[in-house]
Amino acid sequence: MEAALSGQKSLRLPYVDILLPNDRYERDRLNLHHEIIKQAFGRILFPPIRLGGNDRVLDCGTGSGAWVTNVANNVPPTVHLYGIDIDPFSFPERHPPNAHFLVQSTLDMPAEWSNTFTLANQRMLVSAFSQKDWHRSAQETFRVLKPGGYVQLLELDARLHQVLALGPRSRRLEEVANAIWHERGMLTDPASVLPDVLTECGFENVVIETRDVPVNRRSGAMGALHLYNISQAYREMGEAIVRAGGYGIVSSLREFTDLVVAAREEWAENEAAVATFVMVYGRKPLLTLESG
Ligand SMILES: C[S@@+](CC[C@H](N)C(=O)[O-])C[C@H]1O[C@@H](n2cnc3c(N)ncnc32)[C@H](O)[C@@H]1O
Repeated sequence: MEAALSGQKSLRLPYVDILLPNDRYERDRLNLHHEIIKQAFGRILFPPIRLGGNDRVLDCGTGSGAWVTNVANNVPPTVHLYGIDIDPFSFPERHPPNAHFLVQSTLDMPAEWSNTFTLANQRMLVSAFSQKDWHRSAQETFRVLKPGGYVQLLELDARLHQVLALGPRSRRLEEVANAIWHERGMLTDPASVLPDVLTECGFENVVIETRDVPVNRRSGAMGALHLYNISQAYREMGEAIVRAGGYGIVSSLREFTDLVVAAREEWAENEAAVATFVMVYGRKPLLTLESG
């Protein structure tokens, strides 16, 4: 049996105040979100590889570990998966023995992890990363992948703006969300820059795949679930927004929650409420300056 990798001895992050709190509501939402993505794309592994032997797989910002657990159940037990997160709250209590969960930042992984993983997954970090973090995480992922290994990234694209343009309450919600996003130097549309970020970091054969997913009740069960998923994610941003003073748009958590509920009603019966997931994958070249 392989010796499991270990993460950092202690985590010393300068300031961690992520927008979405790690609580049981967020953990349940992440598990739902995993099922939505799985249904939308019909799969959760994108690059042209078959995992086997002693392959090691990394999931950056694993949250509830839904992706790790799902993959671990479907690969040979010799393949070991590592879900890392700066907050262990949502780590699953029960998981297959080849799944491991470590408290570890994806922006600063251990030196001894260089050239270790066959595949690295990273999903929905839009609410956590500043602009420079996207580059840093891609560089770190490049370093810890084996030559020939793949990274796969998945985020929502800017068409969410079209959902938020569907009525006055939605536009107000977008205004307040953008205010905190900009204050923290975060990208509102990481999906549009991810292919370039990967290429700049040295990845090759970059492939993009998109899926439209309804965010309304008129488009079947998937639409209703995604309506809940997106509106719940906004709801969870409320505490951070109110802590920041409400940006002259809301003055209490109650007011913010009412705004999210009102915005949701503008999407709920509107078939134009559709959001797009973007998946981007790329390969670390077989020969790099570092390894070759
Ligand atoms: C929205 S959740 C996404 C969870 C998971 N990737 C998924 O798709 O279900 C974002 C997660 O990233 C974690 N996170 C934020 N910054 C991080 C960092 N620098 N390193 C590792 N994890 C981080 C948060 O704690 C949170 O669990």
